[in-house]
Amino acid sequence: MRLTAEDHLFALTGAGISAESGLATFRGSGGLWNGHRVEEVATPEAWMANPELVWRFYSMRRRDAMAAEPNAAHFALAAVEEQLGDRFYLCTQNVDDLHERAGSQRLHHMHGTLFASRCVRCNRPFADRAFYESVKALPACSVCGRAVRPHIVWFGEMPLDMDGIYSQLDRATVLLVVGTSGSVYPAAGFVQIARRRGIHTVYVGPEKPLNASSFSEILLGTAAETLPELFASV
Ligand code: APR
Repeated sequence: MRLTAEDHLFALTGAGISAESGLATFRGSGGLWNGHRVEEVATPEAWMANPELVWRFYSMRRRDAMAAEPNAAHFALAAVEEQLGDRFYLCTQNVDDLHERAGSQRLHHMHGTLFASRCVRCNRPFADRAFYESVKALPACSVCGRAVRPHIVWFGEMPLDMDGIYSQLDRATVLLVVGTSGSVYPAAGFVQIARRRGIHTVYVGPEKPLNASSFSEILLGTAAETLPELFASV
């Protein structure tokens, strides 16, 4: 992948970029949690049926993310952003905070973030790093008393700021996708949009994603091994 002074880079990351930081991906081995498929604890239906189970799942993920450190791939993206400035945009499907801890700034969490919660009624997100692991401990809104949920986009919900994402995709000249199985839309469709615009599209990961045929270039390798080398010439 070559980047020139005129290029605008749109990077999309998925669970695979945090794999080498020790955080499990969703669809690989270990994609189960206490015998539940992730889909069973990451839906509005799961929340309605069993908020305690859902909060135990996200409390565990908060713990895991807090214990993890950014890896060479997160740092490589932060370093390339320093070079490109406003010609760089990073959209992540991940809810961990490893990109920001590596120094990324032009970053959008399209599926929400682990370290915020929001009242189901007031809907305003607030910073939250607490663990809620029993029925008694479940949080309630300090303003209206209604339930507080994780600030996460669940299956069946609309990802955050799609307008902003599409306008960045419109100005991009290169799309780089890292560590995502290409199975969850709308993110899995970004490559088709980019392809229709005729821009260069690159995938980085140890195996081909489901939407592999839409990419101009596939680089098979792990994120932490591949990205620093990929950006070496920028
Ligand atoms: N480097 C790069 N990619 C890797 C690595 C690695 N070290 N290890 C695994 N991968 C790849 C796998 O090959 C797989 O294609 O990461 C991908 C992870 O895929 P998924 O587990 O499906 O995760 P993701 O695509 O991010 O899931 C999308 O689904 O569960 C929902 O909302 C959740 O954001 C998530 C969305």
